[in-house]
Amino acid sequence: MTVRVLQLTDLHLMADPLAELKGICTRTRFDAVMRAASEVVGPVERLIITGDLAHDEKHETYSALRNQLQSWLPKLRIIPGNHDDRRAIRQTFGERIQVDSDRIVFVDAVAGWTLIGLDSQVTGELRGELGSAQLHWLELQLTSRSDQSIALFVHHPPVLIGSLWIDAIRMDDADSLWSLLDRHKQVRIVCCGHIHQEQTIVGHSAIVLTTPSTGVQFQPESESLVVDSVWPGFRVLDLEPDGTFRTHVIRVSV
Ligand SMILES: [Fe+2]
Repeated sequence: MTVRVLQLTDLHLMADPLAELKGICTRTRFDAVMRAASEVVGPVERLIITGDLAHDEKHETYSALRNQLQSWLPKLRIIPGNHDDRRAIRQTFGERIQVDSDRIVFVDAVAGWTLIGLDSQVTGELRGELGSAQLHWLELQLTSRSDQSIALFVHHPPVLIGSLWIDAIRMDDADSLWSLLDRHKQVRIVCCGHIHQEQTIVGHSAIVLTTPSTGVQFQPESESLVVDSVWPGFRVLDLEPDGTFRTHVIRVSV
């Protein structure tokens, strides 16, 4: 059975529904993306949000998001980004998440695949880090699932992407993650957000996929932040029982 997973990322919602980020109303765009996500043909098994849910870190922003996602709750998995308030996520989405130490993670088995969410937030900073305790936890998860295909979800990509200003706020301990993944080749995909653009990066033991924001887009290969005029979007992942997968990004005109 094919398992269809949707990834949404970098919502940057604010309590004020008309609030803008870089001249763009993130709420309007997210509403349009959710409408499109709801119209995806065929059964969808999971909706995974890979961080930066809120831009203002306000509790009411998370509450409004939970209300909006009511019909998706059984399928919803969440990890934090650099802009999120872990405490607000815990209070709002408590039963939808798993907590390891103070990290918000998830481990989710679906038809021969295991989806693992990691927490790369360094509180108060834009850069990311998994930390040795979480990497040790991940190693335990992978060791006990050597016979399964695995997709990782994490906010900060563990690769340089060629934009000077984003590479400066990258995942600091990416090398440690890769040395771990080199020993666990059943990890096929690392699915990320943070960079507000679509990229596919090969050359490591797993393919790195980055997904557009549901709101503001960043221009690739830029030295400083430049807003891209491409539409927002989300990713569709189709995972097959034999460990292969197909994926594409759906852009949503608003
Ligand atoms: Fe973001």
